[in-house]
Amino acid sequence: MNAASRTKLNQTPEWTALAKHREELGAPQLRELFARQPERGTAYTLRVGDLHLDYSKHLVTDETLRLLRELAAATGVAELRDAMFRGEKINTTEDRAVLHTALRAPRDAVIEVDGENVVPAVHAVLDKMASFADQVRSGQWTGHTGKPVKNIVNIGIGGSDLGPAMAYEVLRSFTDRDLTLRFVSNVDGADLHEAVRDLDPAETLFVIASKTFTTIETITNATSARDWLLTELRAGQDAVAKHFVALSTNAEKVEEFGIDTANMFEFWDWVGGRYSYDSAIGLSLMVAIGPDRFREMLDGFHLVDEHFRTAPAEENAPLLLGLLGVWYGNFFDAQSHAVLPYSHYLSKFTAYLQQLDMESNGKSVDREGDRVDWQTGPVVWGTPGTNGQHAYYQLIHQGTKLVPADFIGFAAPVHDLLPGLIAQHDLLMANFFAQTQALAFGKTPEEVRAEGVPEELVPHKTFRGNHPTTTILADKLTPSVLGQLIALYEHKVFVQGAIWNIDSFDQWGVELGKVLAKKIEPLLTGDGGPAAGQLDSSTAALVDAYRTLRGR
Ligand code: F6P
Repeated sequence: MNAASRTKLNQTPEWTALAKHREELGAPQLRELFARQPERGTAYTLRVGDLHLDYSKHLVTDETLRLLRELAAATGVAELRDAMFRGEKINTTEDRAVLHTALRAPRDAVIEVDGENVVPAVHAVLDKMASFADQVRSGQWTGHTGKPVKNIVNIGIGGSDLGPAMAYEVLRSFTDRDLTLRFVSNVDGADLHEAVRDLDPAETLFVIASKTFTTIETITNATSARDWLLTELRAGQDAVAKHFVALSTNAEKVEEFGIDTANMFEFWDWVGGRYSYDSAIGLSLMVAIGPDRFREMLDGFHLVDEHFRTAPAEENAPLLLGLLGVWYGNFFDAQSHAVLPYSHYLSKFTAYLQQLDMESNGKSVDREGDRVDWQTGPVVWGTPGTNGQHAYYQLIHQGTKLVPADFIGFAAPVHDLLPGLIAQHDLLMANFFAQTQALAFGKTPEEVRAEGVPEELVPHKTFRGNHPTTTILADKLTPSVLGQLIALYEHKVFVQGAIWNIDSFDQWGVELGKVLAKKIEPLLTGDGGPAAGQLDSSTAALVDAYRTLRGR
């Protein structure tokens, strides 16, 4: 669809039809919807690869879903999806193709950017990563003093940290437990300090992950790491080659830093930072889990890519999840979306999704640069259950806000839990099922009264219900299942961006703070002169207070 000729989203007949439908629905009751349609619990389900997806506990009818799909058709979601998969430059503000799907395409696929098939280069880098990972895992990669590398410290931030750090946690039970992996992202020196303080530098490899290789946090940490290593080893610059590798699109800057480009693992400008952990950015992860497991993960991604590309709208899981988000965000005024995994291994999953979703769809101008008059991306939040149940679930159950939530759980724990702990899995999952049930159906005042609760406590013990949830259930949290889950969310985010007519692949909103920080830094040391006159009065006073506290 030609963006320029596109009718504003909220002026399309499909939007108006949805608004009218919403009005007619009033306050939909899940108890009623289930009573009217007893087979709802099996009818409103989808299967994608290993993922069983239940969307029956949503405030929707067949008619809602039909109207939402019509909105998707009218806003050209399928056309934009096809353009993305073809390698067209759909990231218009950066004039770039958006081809993370090429990172997991099979060897014989043909995907062209500017007339060049990018798939051979993708596989060449994967092969180079595999050979490096094998060398480290087998102890053949030795440091400057001849000791094998045992510690890997990934230095990166945003997409160059969150993906591999999250996936390393998720797949911990598949990792080589003789290797120590750490992830450093924060420019707060405490992060690097804690990561290296107990490591033997002779056995430590730094993986510097930065698409641009100009990100101030990463370059600062990488420079400090290099200083630490050379000082501790009492070695010269030549030691860097054995202890530093780079993951980047910018060979020039990598070389300038002093890393041999033979030890650089490349990716390309058509891979967005938050879509990059299945590229060279995943090197630390590949070292930890091994190339075969990494490839299984890529196959999981690819499976969902193919599903998204080819499944009919009625059965298309990312499309459905995207549309449900639009339904709540735009027609129920839901401001946030919770992702609540019932797996300890998914402890960093929601943090990863925050960048994926909020950096992609946290926009307020459309593709033509006009301010949008509709809500765009939600605040994404959540932590693993059951911890959340003892913290913020109170608000979801009985607060005033509508918080649509995704519940993610697994039938079996991964293989190597201690035998006594395997039994705990049923308890975990009983909580998983109980929570979506409670959220959906609540507890009526009559039910509360029937328990003999004194009348004055009845309102307090009543659960309104009607809190919508999606349940995603899989057998086990394997590398492939992780790939499937991430691709599911990537494409969900894509669908929403396409409907809202925003560029989900740029991130101009992170720029201003970076520029201002550069101006403020010399004012903190005093090198830049007095803050007053150079900054607004609030920031200047804060800078002065800081300088006083630091005795400057
Ligand atoms: O936060 C802004 C951002 O550009 C992200 O999009 C990106 O993932 C991150 O910084 C890190 O960038 P780089 O990989 O270039 O260091």
